[in-house]
Amino acid sequence: MNFIKYKNRRKATMLSLAIVSVVFAALVTGCYNNNTGETGILGIADLKFPAFPETGSHAVVIFSEMHYSPAYDDQEGPTIGPPSDSVPVTGREIQYTAEEYTLLRMSGKSTNSYEQSKAADIYRINCSVCHGESLQGDGSVAKYLTRGAAPANLIGGSSADATEGEIFAWISYGSRTGFALEMAGQPNPTVMPTFNKLLTEEERWHLVKYIMAKQNR
Ligand code: HEC
Repeated sequence: MNFIKYKNRRKATMLSLAIVSVVFAALVTGCYNNNTGETGILGIADLKFPAFPETGSHAVVIFSEMHYSPAYDDQEGPTIGPPSDSVPVTGREIQYTAEEYTLLRMSGKSTNSYEQSKAADIYRINCSVCHGESLQGDGSVAKYLTRGAAPANLIGGSSADATEGEIFAWISYGSRTGFALEMAGQPNPTVMPTFNKLLTEEERWHLVKYIMAKQNR
């Protein structure tokens, strides 16, 4: 648009207003395609404006995860958890004695569902920060764990000749020390999380199989 032609400022202002009105009319009359930004003005002109494609239930999603937050409405109390003595529909995990854990074997179901790549993911997400990608206790946070034992070497340490049931118990109760304390009915302050509260029984067995595969057993 060549504004120099319009020496009179009022004329230029009028023209700007006209353009804004046309754009507004085009948007209001529904000739604007929000997926492509193409806008047809009464068959006279075809323009291209910024596109705002729909990405969810709203045209522009700002915090997408907030759509799925467990919101509750007015007059509605917070969700009530299950009673403390209720049993999950999947059944409660059996608590064995220390000797029984030593003899415990992986179930056929867990053996059949084992996939090395999935187990590697579970390990990477839950264990590698401490035990390292190499499983040798050299994870990125290991040097900051200055109180208590350092993350164990899962290739060459006690795990190397432990039974599969023992490794399962150590993972479940947050290390060998944690397992011994829990079996003795004492509080368990180990830095390694108690994974029987965080991972399913099957996921913990898959980790046992993964660790043993890395030990070439
Ligand atoms: C926050 C750090 C941390 C994380 C995360 C962690 N561990 Fe540990 N783990 C430790 C420490 C520390 C020890 C040694 C504790 C001790 O001996 O008192 C240990 C010990 C163990 C042992 C016993 C080995 C031995 O020789 O005593 C096993 C098996 C083990 N971890 C497996 C795992 C697995 C599998 C995961 C992931 C599901 C995991 N750990 C996640 C810190 C961690």
